[in-house]
Amino acid sequence: MLSYKMPQADKNPGEYELGESVLSEPAKGNIIELTAFNDEARENPHRKLKNLRETAPAMRDDATKVWMISRYDDVRGLVNDTTMLRSPHAAEEGSISRRFAQLNDGEGPQSILFMDDPDHSRVRKPLAKALYKRIQSMKTEIEELIDSVIDSCPANGTFDLMKDVAVPVPILVIAHILGVDESRLGEFRNWSEAAILSLNPVRTAEQTAQMEAGNEALRHYFGELLEKRRREPCDDLISDMAAHQKNGGEMSNAELLTNLAGLLIGGNLTTTDLIGNGLWLLLTHPLQLQKLRSDRSLTGPAVDEILRFESPVASTSRTLPNDSEVAGCPMKGTQTVFCSLHSANRDPDIFEEPDQFDITRPKKAHVAFGGGQHLCIGAPLARIEARRVLERLLDRYDTIELAQDEIIWRQLPFFRGIEELQIRVS
Ligand code: HEM
Repeated sequence: MLSYKMPQADKNPGEYELGESVLSEPAKGNIIELTAFNDEARENPHRKLKNLRETAPAMRDDATKVWMISRYDDVRGLVNDTTMLRSPHAAEEGSISRRFAQLNDGEGPQSILFMDDPDHSRVRKPLAKALYKRIQSMKTEIEELIDSVIDSCPANGTFDLMKDVAVPVPILVIAHILGVDESRLGEFRNWSEAAILSLNPVRTAEQTAQMEAGNEALRHYFGELLEKRRREPCDDLISDMAAHQKNGGEMSNAELLTNLAGLLIGGNLTTTDLIGNGLWLLLTHPLQLQKLRSDRSLTGPAVDEILRFESPVASTSRTLPNDSEVAGCPMKGTQTVFCSLHSANRDPDIFEEPDQFDITRPKKAHVAFGGGQHLCIGAPLARIEARRVLERLLDRYDTIELAQDEIIWRQLPFFRGIEELQIRVS
């Protein structure tokens, strides 16, 4: 069981040493108990997070040597703060963030998610610019691709939405944007699914071998494709990045290959979960589904409410460059704060009746995509994909119902998604 100490100041402001908590004892807890590794949190993380927000907005976990921050204003302030660091090398010795860096030492450059300036901007800016341009210029093709996936589902009967729609859509879309050859799509799908096993810290030995083989195959294939596009540019993102390098853009091949793979690792599972969580929420809130059916202009707001209510990514992190105070607690430079996006998105100080799923709620910025310099670069793409899936499903089927009694949430810490979603359609 988690137990927290209520914050209780025992000194006057100004009497604290940095690194010493304002609390008579810092609120302590275990962040792993807030993830899908814990049965209760896997089923529903929001009850525990509500308790945390109310009693320990900055909680220290001595085992993993990180803080958990749970109130919206604190989370928003941290993710938007451009002085914060992201590189695991900047993190406290012995913390899980630092151990992560050591695990990956010698593996070549990091993805932009784990870079700091000036390297972060040098790599992120051209990649994001090219991706946004591609998303805009390919919007119609992306939508057609999604339609074709949904149109190949049964016209009536029962099927697993995860397997038949939510998993293939993001993979096929990113393959198209990147410029993966049609003839290699099957392999690309297998490699992509293997590569995202890197998000699972408790892989079996067999899964680790599968992941390593997938990563290696992807790297090799992207390397080959890059060479090919240098010789003969095509209308795709890999050609855009080859042109960036040719025009003097400072980005090594290794940085480019890591970050192309990063688009799959950062984007596939998360978008799959947005689609899966979204359909599950609508099917379990029939009034909301009915509202959406009768007013399609609510599709965009519905996607953002899904992102707020069951965010696919549970938390993100930042490392403090200097001693400073966060959420009322003095903290030391090098200490890492985990920002609970799940908790911030249910903070009643920002969202009225936060535990109500309401696609018509007044627009307020959630933090499902993080923020600041590291704001998710795939956010516009994820939104387009989820909107189109919802639109096409509602166009194609007059009725959609849940065809399973119980939902099984995936046992993957720091993410939230459903393993299987059987639906009955007609
Ligand atoms: C619903 C879908 C998605 C969710 C919920 C999501 C969430 C996130 C979050 C929380 C971050 C960290 C932001 C921060 O620390 O402030 C992030 C970063 C990132 N995401 Fe996404 N993401 C999604 C889809 C995608 C897609 C489709 C792509 C690629 C096509 C993508 C690529 C990335 C990359 C490359 C980063 C690192 C950005 C940086 O550090 O500069 N994501 N995402």
